[in-house]
Amino acid sequence: MKLFNHRKFYDKDSLSVDEIGDNPISFFIKWFNDAEKSDQIIESNAMTVSTVDINNHPSSRVVLLKEIKDKSLIFFTNYNSKKGKEIENNPNICASFYWPPLERQVIIKGIVKKTSEHYSDIYFKSRPFQSQVGAIVSNQSQIISSYDELKNRYDKFLKENENSSLKRPKHWGGFELFIQEIEFWQGRESRLHNRVICNLIDDKWSLKLLSP
Ligand SMILES: Cc1cc2nc3c(=O)[nH]c(=O)nc-3n(C[C@H](O)[C@H](O)[C@H](O)COP(=O)(O)O)c2cc1C
Repeated sequence: MKLFNHRKFYDKDSLSVDEIGDNPISFFIKWFNDAEKSDQIIESNAMTVSTVDINNHPSSRVVLLKEIKDKSLIFFTNYNSKKGKEIENNPNICASFYWPPLERQVIIKGIVKKTSEHYSDIYFKSRPFQSQVGAIVSNQSQIISSYDELKNRYDKFLKENENSSLKRPKHWGGFELFIQEIEFWQGRESRLHNRVICNLIDDKWSLKLLSP
């Protein structure tokens, strides 16, 4: 299947170093809010997180961003999952967003640390009961013999724990990505896109233009 003719024209907006200013994370929040406001973007907080294994083989998957802090982003997952184990071995990760209706991409790199147990508990409690059960019964990234096996485990757990307050499993919680680099990409005419890369050096942001 050839996709040679799949191409789109980008002409919605432009981006300059001056617009970003001296705090690229504030600018990221501005772009994030634009994505939130767009009724064509269903999950603006869906981000692709890439990790590498001990042989330097990369893997990517989508997770949901749950908090933007002054210098970091937070998402939640199973610490025993493939990504969880890879992060344990190499905490350097890349998280990226693509918001097609805005013709914008953001690529963020940095180092990840587990959030505090207390913070993970608070978020776990805020999840719907069914999602809490899902996190408890699913050994994320492990091979299962059938979907029914998982569903039966879920139904059994649900029946046995109806109306009870569930405890967060220790192997499920938050990861906080401390941002060291952010690249903003705005699609432009003739593939002459705007790219600005921002690096945090000695607690100060350095902004540079990149060729598309
Ligand atoms: C829209 C979307 C949102 C997702 N959100 C999460 C999430 O917040 N946390 C998570 O662990 N997995 C999430 N997933 C599932 C992951 O993409 C992935 O399948 C899972 O985390 C296992 O990844 P791993 O085996 O590479 O560790 C989401 C998937 C999609 C498509």
